Amino acid sequence: MTFPIVRHRRLRRTTALRNMVRETVLTVNDLIYPIFVTYGDNVKEEIPSMPGVFHFSLDRLEEEIREVVDAGIPAVLLFGVPETKDAEGSSAYDADGIVQRAIRAVKAQAPELVVIADTCLCQFTDHGHCGLIHHHPVTGAAEIANDPSLELLVKTAVSQAEAGADIIAPSNMMDGFVAAIRQGLDEAGFENVPIMSYSVKYASAFYGPFRDAAHSAPQFGDRKTYQMDPGNVREALREAESDVAEGADMLMVKPALAYMDVIRLLKEQFDLPVVAYNVSAEYSMVKAAAANGWIDERAIVMETLTGMKRAGADLIITYHAKDAAKWVREGL
Ligand code: PBG
Ligand code: ZN
Repeated sequence: MTFPIVRHRRLRRTTALRNMVRETVLTVNDLIYPIFVTYGDNVKEEIPSMPGVFHFSLDRLEEEIREVVDAGIPAVLLFGVPETKDAEGSSAYDADGIVQRAIRAVKAQAPELVVIADTCLCQFTDHGHCGLIHHHPVTGAAEIANDPSLELLVKTAVSQAEAGADIIAPSNMMDGFVAAIRQGLDEAGFENVPIMSYSVKYASAFYGPFRDAAHSAPQFGDRKTYQMDPGNVREALREAESDVAEGADMLMVKPALAYMDVIRLLKEQFDLPVVAYNVSAEYSMVKAAAANGWIDERAIVMETLTGMKRAGADLIITYHAKDAAKWVREGL
């Protein structure tokens, strides 16, 4: 049947009708808020390329956590900036490391808030890579060693679970990281701590502002030998498949905006929750344009997050979470 019998505009006539037939609605339960914790005292320092996002020292974290809880946001994702870095990233798996202390502080303040720990080494290594450096015996070329890095990642994950993390989110893209961490957590008695795997993480320019914020830019080379090539999607399926087989509880796609097809694919192919990471440069671009008066920030953010959910994301990690929670409450 066609026009004039079919008229799509009939259901668009009024706000009430549009609200009734809307297929995708963002809720506050979809949101995860990333927080950067740093060493020192009385630090609340705005990240220049990410207006509205701050570094907090532990003694200033409380006010931020209160805001998150008051906004009704169910979960935070913690990143740490340590005081000291070394080749092995040892501050990543120190029981008194910045992230471990932050986890304990947040759980003590807000026991119901879900604390997700990003598990990686790049903020903690002096070379800024997500794993250990190994030099080729003949050429001397630097490589990121896979299996030795796994051991350190496991130590990091277990120390985060011991500090009280509710979810472990490994982001380093070594092969076999989910299996290794699952085994390590289980052996330490944390068989009920889920793994939110950064399954499909592309080698992306969209992490630029984050690396400034976390001081985690690689000091040489790039991350292309472990993070995925932006041109690939069949490989994304293989990455997700191996994570599922290794015991991942949730699958993440990162970044989100340029990879909506990947979000959709994972949603269709697997029955695990899909998480989209609305990464730092996606945020910075919106904030910069909004600051210039070129876009309507609220409308752009709500459309973007709704689009990610429509594409298949069950959860969205986003720096817009506090604003989005407020806008969700106020209604579109
Ligand atoms: C650490 C990590 C990164 C991000 C999250 N965890 C950076 C990277 O891999 O270089 C990026 C987050 C963002 O850009 O918002 N591996
Ligand atoms: Zn990393």
